[in-house]
Amino acid sequence: MDTVLLKTDHLTHAFGSEQSGIFDICLTIARDDFIVLAGKNGCGKTTLIRHFNGLLMPDRGRVLLDGQDIQKNLTVARKKVGMVFQDPDTQIIADTVFDETAFGPENLNMGREAINAGVINALKLLGLYHLRDRNPATLSGGEKRRLAIAGILVMAPDLIIFDEPFANLDYPSIVSLVRVCRTLHRSGHAIVMTTHDVAPVIMLATKMVVMDKGRIKEQGDPISLAPCLESYGVKNPFTPMAQAWAL
Ligand SMILES: Nc1ncnc2c1ncn2[C@@H]1O[C@H](COP(=O)(O)OP(=O)(O)O)[C@@H](O)[C@H]1O
Ligand SMILES: [Mg+2]
Repeated sequence: MDTVLLKTDHLTHAFGSEQSGIFDICLTIARDDFIVLAGKNGCGKTTLIRHFNGLLMPDRGRVLLDGQDIQKNLTVARKKVGMVFQDPDTQIIADTVFDETAFGPENLNMGREAINAGVINALKLLGLYHLRDRNPATLSGGEKRRLAIAGILVMAPDLIIFDEPFANLDYPSIVSLVRVCRTLHRSGHAIVMTTHDVAPVIMLATKMVVMDKGRIKEQGDPISLAPCLESYGVKNPFTPMAQAWAL
């Protein structure tokens, strides 16, 4: 099987002016990648990842998934590329954790036994199986976030995208989410994570991509690129904050 999962080819999406959006993005995501997409607020991270499953359409350029332009089959693209949004509350639909997780596969008319097996597997992987009969509204913030991930995992996506997953999380929740991401990566899913704070995941990432003003400025080995982060408004995780202030 080809190791390339997703590729953007000179992808451009401008919002009104040529100042705002993403421009000429050429990026390759391999099946075994864990990519940290870093950059300060407004640099275009969310705009870029929204092209990976066709939530946004390019002005110029293409997104190829398994070599196929994703516009040709958006249903397939949305199954293969799962997106974990920032606010887990906005995604909750069903009355139980189990039914919530089963919602996606049910809409695809998968068989009942396959759905049940997939849901049980996803809930176990995310440490939610014991809460399967609970009403999602009664879960903690961290549990709700894991439930949102279960609902995506159950679709067996090749690529799972996290958009600023650490926003509003306390330290134990960050640690627990990083562990989930590591488990997902080890179980064969490619991961893309946007963040303006690379510290929690830099050691897990296979590749770091740094954006600024809608363009990719750097990409490569995460640790080697860490020293250049500050020039793009992103904290170098190997510099203590107190020391950075003194610079
Ligand atoms: N729907 C939109 N309409 C107009 N401008 C937008 C829209 N979405 C994003 N932008 C602009 O595009 C730029 C990139 O935004 P975004 O992709 O959200 O950045 P990031 O996720 O890195 O914070 C910003 O200047 C933002 O204001
Ligand atoms: Mg964003």
